[in-house]
Amino acid sequence: MKIISNPHELRDYVKKINKTIGFVPTMGALHEGHISLIKEARKNNEFVVVSIFVNPTQFSKDEDLDKYPRKDEADKKICELSGVDLLFFPKPEDIYSKDEVCVQAPNIRGYILEGHTRPTHFNGVLTVVNKLLNIVNPTYAYFGKKDAQQLNLIKLMVKQLFMNVEIISVDTKRDKDGLALSSRNSYLSKEQRKEALKIPASLNLASSMISKNILDAKQIRNNMLEKLEPLEVFYVEILDRDFNKIDYVEISNTIILVEAKVGDTRLLDNIWL
Ligand code: PAJ
Repeated sequence: MKIISNPHELRDYVKKINKTIGFVPTMGALHEGHISLIKEARKNNEFVVVSIFVNPTQFSKDEDLDKYPRKDEADKKICELSGVDLLFFPKPEDIYSKDEVCVQAPNIRGYILEGHTRPTHFNGVLTVVNKLLNIVNPTYAYFGKKDAQQLNLIKLMVKQLFMNVEIISVDTKRDKDGLALSSRNSYLSKEQRKEALKIPASLNLASSMISKNILDAKQIRNNMLEKLEPLEVFYVEILDRDFNKIDYVEISNTIILVEAKVGDTRLLDNIWL
């Protein structure tokens, strides 16, 4: 596996490859969720690129940039064992300069849910993903459904900026106990982890209501909120796949999203119906 940190060097390298390129952007501290994206890329492309970059612009001032888990050596090993051909490992100064052109998240979809409590977050995500896609120039880029709003906005950016890449959505990987895998799970104590299981439990409750043909969004949401008690809930939303609020679940066109705080850790989860 080749490792490159300079964006220009990487761009020149991939230009000469002449193969289908599958790209998986990450912030490292790799887990089975990331690995499932890499496997998907490996299955469908001749050449696989992973990037590890803890992107400073998507963290707000009071957030956990310095605390964010960094496991560089373990991550390199995971990439090597997962059949990655090229690892892009830039430093912030390789990606950003003092005076930056930025991608602006859309006024509505960028500022609900995650964007409501973290208004600069998606500008940072879209700006870095735009840069990464321009550097790697992949055929396909892989993103997890776990970050449903991020995935939706990246698809929107690719469409609206006429970018030449296809975005592939990958299902959420969960631990045995049902908790969605996340690099942030490492912040949780044993007790907090037990509390965190209320999040997938609330989504399971929604699924089972829907399977009994209870489709009323208000009723489902209230039951979920009850299940989540006493966690600090940022949102429970029932939306269509374009992120519009809906009163009734529409099978094949609904996402139910939760964000709640356990201790100091914000955890996201969702189900796609
Ligand atoms: P990160 O949180 O490292 O996630 C990288 C990719 O892995 C994202 O597409 C995310 O949705 C996916 N992922 C995370 N947990 C997953 C799980 N349990 N199952 C399946 N996929 C999962 O998301 C980011 O980094 C950054 O915002 C990034 C897009 C790299 C831009 O900086």
